[in-house]
Amino acid sequence: MTQHQRLLIIDFGSQVTQLIARRLRELNVYCEIHPFNHVSDAFLRDFAPRAVILSGGPASVCDAGAPMPPASVFTLGVPVLGICYGQQVMMHCLGGRVERGEGSAEFGRAHVTPADDPLDLLEGWFESGREQVWMSHGDHVAALAPGFAVYGTSPGAPFAITADKARRFYAVQFHPEVHHTPRGARLLGNFVALAGFTGDWTMGAYRDEAIRAIREQVGDGKVICGLSGGVDSSVAAVLIHEAIGEQLTCVFVDHGLLRLGEAEQVVSMFRDHYNIPLVHADESALFLGALEGVSDPEKKRKTIGRLFIDVFQKHATETGGAEFLAQGTLYPDVIESVSFSGGPSVTIKSHHNVGGLPEKMGLKLVEPLRELFKDEVRSLGRELGLPESFIGRHPFPGPGLAIRCPGEITSEKLDILRRADAVYIDQIRKHGLYDEIWQAFAAILPMRTVGVMGDGRSYDYALGLRAVTSVDGMTADYYPFSHEFLSETATRIINEVRGVNRVFYDVTSKPPGTIELE
Ligand code: XMP
Repeated sequence: MTQHQRLLIIDFGSQVTQLIARRLRELNVYCEIHPFNHVSDAFLRDFAPRAVILSGGPASVCDAGAPMPPASVFTLGVPVLGICYGQQVMMHCLGGRVERGEGSAEFGRAHVTPADDPLDLLEGWFESGREQVWMSHGDHVAALAPGFAVYGTSPGAPFAITADKARRFYAVQFHPEVHHTPRGARLLGNFVALAGFTGDWTMGAYRDEAIRAIREQVGDGKVICGLSGGVDSSVAAVLIHEAIGEQLTCVFVDHGLLRLGEAEQVVSMFRDHYNIPLVHADESALFLGALEGVSDPEKKRKTIGRLFIDVFQKHATETGGAEFLAQGTLYPDVIESVSFSGGPSVTIKSHHNVGGLPEKMGLKLVEPLRELFKDEVRSLGRELGLPESFIGRHPFPGPGLAIRCPGEITSEKLDILRRADAVYIDQIRKHGLYDEIWQAFAAILPMRTVGVMGDGRSYDYALGLRAVTSVDGMTADYYPFSHEFLSETATRIINEVRGVNRVFYDVTSKPPGTIELE
């Protein structure tokens, strides 16, 4: 749908391919990531990229059947940048030689120094005579393809930076997209500049384009938007309302798994502040009834997803036959869902939003945020005038407290969890930490523990507290609260919430943990 100058990232399965996209978006360059096995010659022709980046990846070009791009990547006449595995692919395809890693693998920090000959990609890059970069490769280039020369070396990588100036092919062994290559963004900036990108990807332009696309998709049809009160669905709703006004009805499903006071806040924001038609569907009895006795997390998500759709479909009929369901699906949801091995079995994680949409659904999806990262959604929200208090809210999962209550869900546990979570978040706000944290929440653990309170013995629930920092929810680190904060918070929770006698703080990063406990 986009009219912007486009860059294509061909993904070979690196853990950090998404970071390439993020760096480029920060440079106001529109790009899309597509797995190598979805990129055919015809796809390339239609996509018409102004430049192509070949990502890193875990495979070895020395293996039979190694992932390769279509041959026409190198005859399009546009600049191509190969990163790590992408460099090896380039050499392999263009007549160079790659050798297996035995003994020459290199992981971690390295320093690259320039060769004598200048290169447009490196314009202003070697400020201090050498640059720190992040290496992570097993195999290495042993002989350059014809036309290529070396423009930067490190002690362990004689071909750290290589290029064929005439064809504007660039290939680097390190990862410019990661934070450990501190000036990597500058290098990517040089690449898009030499490819002629003018930085035309702005939020204002995106908003106008998205509104046009929504009108085109929906025509005079009716749309219902599943509202969770989180940033994504709120921004989607306001954007769609701007596009089609009264054709939109928001349905806020209270599944009985919301936090304290959440339903009231959402209703007042949309109905009173925005005057957007809103159905507040209190379906807590339906959801909690179906979840009774269910402790498997996947079953919880599937049950909740199925009921969400039933409820949406019911309201689609009641609102005069809506044919569209709008969701706040984000780009990482879309990308994460495309399996590396590809093929027909790819799973689309637009489902993630409501915990698993059924395969067959009578409603067509409207997903105006599917090209955006979370922080971009926040800037779009600002562009649309949403209050800062809403834009800055921590993400909250579609299945709500169900996945913060490991094991069986009971109304007693939910009640304790709601009150404890409210105290925890209040503590975080009081200490001015809310905006530093990506997401913080309490979870009620599936165990009882012995305590001593007053002169008596208690046998109550234990609570887990989680707070993480993250850029996009894909990776995360636990937030390093002070001991004072933790003990003050634990004391407050135990004093103020009956039923809890012990508090744990989760110090696991993602990976290996996930953000939610289930
Ligand atoms: P995990 O736990 O996978 O979470 O590290 C990453 C982010 O996604 C949210 N999350 C969900 N959101 N439906 C959602 O709408 C889900 O089933 C779901 N599971 C996790 C989580 O809160 C975090 O922001």
